[in-house]
Amino acid sequence: MINQLGVTDEHYYTKYAEIPEKIKKEALARADKSPFRQLFHTEAPSGYLNDPNGFSYFDGKYHLFYQWTPFKYQENPKLWYQAWHHLVSEDLVAWESLGPGIEPDTLFETHGAYSGSAWDNGDELLLFYTGNTRNEDWQRTPYQLLATMDRDGVIKKAETPAITGTIPGYTDHFRDPKIWKTAEGYFAVIGAQRTDLTGAALVLHSENGTTDWRVLGEVGTDRHQDFGYMWECPDYFELDGMGILLFSPQGLAPEQNRFENIYQTGYLVGDRLDKTHLSLHEQSEFIELDRGFDIYATQTTALPDGRRILSGWMGLPEIAYPTEAYGYCGCLLLPRELRFEDGRLKQRPIRELAAYETEEKALSVRLDPDANTHQIAIGFGHVLKLHSKNTAAGQLVLELYSNEERTRYTRVLLDSAKGEIWLDREKSGLPVGEAYGTKRLLWEGDLSEIELALYLDRSSIELFLQDGLVVASSRIFPDESQQSVYFESLSGEWAVAGTHAKLDVQAKKG
Ligand code: FRU
Repeated sequence: MINQLGVTDEHYYTKYAEIPEKIKKEALARADKSPFRQLFHTEAPSGYLNDPNGFSYFDGKYHLFYQWTPFKYQENPKLWYQAWHHLVSEDLVAWESLGPGIEPDTLFETHGAYSGSAWDNGDELLLFYTGNTRNEDWQRTPYQLLATMDRDGVIKKAETPAITGTIPGYTDHFRDPKIWKTAEGYFAVIGAQRTDLTGAALVLHSENGTTDWRVLGEVGTDRHQDFGYMWECPDYFELDGMGILLFSPQGLAPEQNRFENIYQTGYLVGDRLDKTHLSLHEQSEFIELDRGFDIYATQTTALPDGRRILSGWMGLPEIAYPTEAYGYCGCLLLPRELRFEDGRLKQRPIRELAAYETEEKALSVRLDPDANTHQIAIGFGHVLKLHSKNTAAGQLVLELYSNEERTRYTRVLLDSAKGEIWLDREKSGLPVGEAYGTKRLLWEGDLSEIELALYLDRSSIELFLQDGLVVASSRIFPDESQQSVYFESLSGEWAVAGTHAKLDVQAKKG
């Protein structure tokens, strides 16, 4: 195949508009056959979705892009295209697809318009991202690229890269700039790998955001100099007077119940950064943002009302997901509001979601080992908000998306005797990522009062514990028979109360 650069290489990019309609339709039809399509999470119409990019509020709307490889699973012909897909929303919940955003159509991004971010400059949205290129020997040269989007959504790319190639002391793994602005000018943190193959984040700076971008230095850490081999998708922001560095390190070995996924996402809390102070002097360990099985490459943005909102990929690189059989893979997390309390981030689903909850019902049950189990038939697309005060030690089991036989379900075990909460997807449905284990410890500590919100979409669960102190996001692939929730006490007396409601954004939109 010869692409528009005149280069013969099947890996090279094909312009989206030039991809035959027939192929696009086939890809869409294939994805539509999936029983696992989500009801209130963003998925790609076809192909592979990974990182959220360019998350911003601009010209009265929320903008969110995602990394998109639309024909990744299309065999015949296999069309190569990896770029940004553009979404807009009025409320952060219902997103409208605008199709391709940044296409990899210059010589600086022949092998992908990789991740990046956005800054609202008033009249235009400034986009800063990584262009990936490879030569014939498959050696990589990264470019850090700028573009602007006007109020009509027209994206114009800068003619010259902000930064070309690699930086002395670092390898070609140099990508994912996250931009912000202060009185000192424009800054960005960017993921990097030192030549000794350890991961780092560098700080970039430009006075005007358009020219003279240069590397100020590394985000200094006291205890995380040798922490994995690459830091992807770094993000820096301030909450409650603290500097927070959020990133996705690769290459951490599992430690007991930490770092069990193939790659991690988490944060360090420390000093605020500015042009002359690049050291975090972190006051925290690396805290995993989410205790679930599927979370990676998160990105935050600040809203005009002051809220700091996080998006992320509810998925991981190099993990096979059952939806690939239908030619697509990946979804975004529900947007979450971040707050900083008692030295950690708390995460809550954005309040705008509540407007899509319907058919709310109250729930109040008392359970002990001799009492019957309690069942609620929920159907797909549901939110449960529960609280429980228990004085006696015991074990309560929640079987989410269970079948009538109670042989397949996603299990949450609340063990107040041991002071532990576990999430177990061993019997959830079609297997996923089993090489990385099927159980996660979500909580260790006092459980005399438990507050739990569960967002159950067709093929995922997001669990918010203790008002978002702990969050667990996971893909699950139940079959059509798994539409109930069972509560059962294995020991101890439990009183559980709360509400549950239907949540289906697609239906409401449609
Ligand atoms: C993270 C990542 C980024 C890169 C992008 C490419 O998932 O590897 O580092 O920019 O995906 O799609």
